[in-house]
Amino acid sequence: SDIGKGTYPYYMLKEIDEQPAVLRRILQHYYVDGQYKIDEEILKAIQQADRLYIVAAGTSYHAGFASKAFFEEMTKTPVELCIASEFGYNMPLLSEKPLFIYISQSGETADSRQVLVKTKALGYPALTITNVAGSTLSREADYTLSLHAGPEIAVASTKAYTAQISVMAVLAKAVGDYIGNIAASEFHLVKELSLVATSMVAVLAEKERIAEKVEEHLKGTRNSFYIGRGEDYYVSMEAALKLKEISYIQCEGFAAGELKHGTIALIEENTPVQAILSHKALAPHTRGNIMEVISRGAKVLTVVSDDLANEDDDIIVPSVHPYLTSLAMVVPTQMIAYYATLQRGLDVDKPRNLAKSVTVE
Ligand code: G6P
Repeated sequence: SDIGKGTYPYYMLKEIDEQPAVLRRILQHYYVDGQYKIDEEILKAIQQADRLYIVAAGTSYHAGFASKAFFEEMTKTPVELCIASEFGYNMPLLSEKPLFIYISQSGETADSRQVLVKTKALGYPALTITNVAGSTLSREADYTLSLHAGPEIAVASTKAYTAQISVMAVLAKAVGDYIGNIAASEFHLVKELSLVATSMVAVLAEKERIAEKVEEHLKGTRNSFYIGRGEDYYVSMEAALKLKEISYIQCEGFAAGELKHGTIALIEENTPVQAILSHKALAPHTRGNIMEVISRGAKVLTVVSDDLANEDDDIIVPSVHPYLTSLAMVVPTQMIAYYATLQRGLDVDKPRNLAKSVTVE
């Protein structure tokens, strides 16, 4: 059931485990009788826009990044990411016909709502993607799409992130088909999303092994780094946020190639680095960065898709379509955050200083 922890020690673990089912539920809601069920008004609004501005906070902001590449490829429309709390006094120069997409688990984040009020007043259309139908952001936007992830109770967001990316994929595919885009017609979303669910199930079955790796790798540390390139960089940002939020280990998600331009100065004997590799063309470069940090004393834990893995890698993830790698690669990083926190004896579901929904600016 969606309510209660059942046999789980923490909501976060339950919600991590629910992700394959959430992906299947999203397909059931949005793919009916062989058709994508998205209001034609929404498809038209996106077709008419010359640029899409995603406005969000926290994990939802990271879900926007993870969706940017496939959204641009299938809709042929540039996508810009905006941190809600920055937008008010640091507004980007807008295009002629912008459309605003508000991504929010709760639909109540005050920083995002403030931007929605502003862009509505300027006369620009808004679409909200949220887990809470009837929430403020959902009611006040012109259009809304639901995540169908079920209630998310743990403060650290997990299934909402993967649901947000999945719904963005459904939307991009539906728009792409609507405008006759080739990349979209060649992308078999139903099949590919099912493969992601299967990949997740395989990784979720590795809990004990992952917990052991985490114990070995992060025990007693105060800081660490996630590195990756492309989509794996975006996952690194989210993975680092998750680890910080609940385990209080200071962590930075870094574009692997950027490390040498400054941050590598922080690597010393036994600094833990987690590397994410799922992109064929980029993985050899990230491998090079792994060698660089190892030669400065770092210990590295690798999270690698199976088509790129070798026997020294730590966590192997069954590979998925390049558009959807974030969905598969993020799951082990959620488990890393969960176990690191558990091993420190902290309350996974109730981190200090944080609220599930932040309704003040
Ligand atoms: C809070 C939560 C985060 C969340 C962010 C945005 O800070 O602790 O987990 O990502 O708000 O929330 P939203 O509901 O708008 O996705």
